[in-house]
Amino acid sequence: MSTLTPYLNVAVRAAKTAGGILKRGLTQPPQVSYKDDTSLVTDVDIRAEQAIIAQISRRFPDHDILSEEGQGKQRCASYRWIIDPLDGTTNYVHRFPFFCVSVGLEYRGRMVVGVAYDPIRRELFHAERGSGAYLNGQPIVVSSVGHLDHALLVTGFSQDIRTRPGNAFTVFQRVSRKVQAVRRSGSSVLDLCYVAAGRLDGFWEMKLKPWDTAAGSLILIEAGGRISNFSGKRFSIYDLEVLASNRRLHAGLLSAISP
Ligand code: IPD
Ligand code: CA
Ligand code: CA
Repeated sequence: MSTLTPYLNVAVRAAKTAGGILKRGLTQPPQVSYKDDTSLVTDVDIRAEQAIIAQISRRFPDHDILSEEGQGKQRCASYRWIIDPLDGTTNYVHRFPFFCVSVGLEYRGRMVVGVAYDPIRRELFHAERGSGAYLNGQPIVVSSVGHLDHALLVTGFSQDIRTRPGNAFTVFQRVSRKVQAVRRSGSSVLDLCYVAAGRLDGFWEMKLKPWDTAAGSLILIEAGGRISNFSGKRFSIYDLEVLASNRRLHAGLLSAISP
C-alpha cells in the first residue's frame, strides 16, 4: 500500500466517517426533499457533507471546498476539495445497496487525491497522483478485455432524462448493440472505481457534475485506465461528458458513441 500523505489521510478518515453516517442512516426512514422533479436530497446527504467539511476544514482551513449540497466555501485557493457526500442518493432512498462517499482533492486544476468509500461492502478505493490505485490497500488495475463483444459496460442517465433526453437513448442503443452487456448502477463514482478494479470494462455518461467524477477519475487513471470526453479529447472534471475505459477498448467505444 502507498504511504498515506496528510491529504490522503484526511480524505480517507472523512470518507469513512461519512460512510458510517450513511450506514447508520439506513436504520431510519430518510427525510427526502426534491431539488427538482426527480433529483433527491436527504437529511443524510446533508449530515454526511457537514461531517466531511468539518474534518477537512479543521485540518486545512485555507483550502477551497466544492461540495454537491453547497455547504463548502470557495476562496480561490490552490487546493480544492471536491465532495459528493452520497453518490447514489436515489439508490439510497430506495434501499438499493449501491452508493458511496466520494472525496477528491484538486491542486491547481489537477486531481491529486481520490477516495471513494462504499460502506455496505466496506470497500475503500483510493489513489494519489503517480502512486497507483488501491482497493482496501491492495493495488488494482483495469481489465485486459480487448474486444467490445466481450466487454461489460456501465452507464447512467442524467436526472432530466424524462424531459431532456438529448441523444442519450440513441447512444445507449448504439453501444448496447456492440458490447456483451450494459449495466446502469446509479452511482457514477462506483462505476469509475469498478472500471478501475477490472470489474467493468468501460463507463460513459452525459451531464455529470465535478463531484461525480473527481475522485473516481483519478482512481481510474492510476489503475491504468483512460478517460476522455466523447471526442477523445483530454477529460476535465468540469466537462459534462465522460468516457472511461480499460484503455484497450477506448477507440472502439469512442466510435460506438460518436460514429
Ligand atoms: C448521481 C449518480 C448517478 C448518475 C447521476 C448522478 P447523486 O449522483 O452518480 O449514477 O447517473 O447523473 O447525479 O445525485 O446520486 O449524487
Ligand atoms: Ca453524484
Ligand atoms: Ca450526491
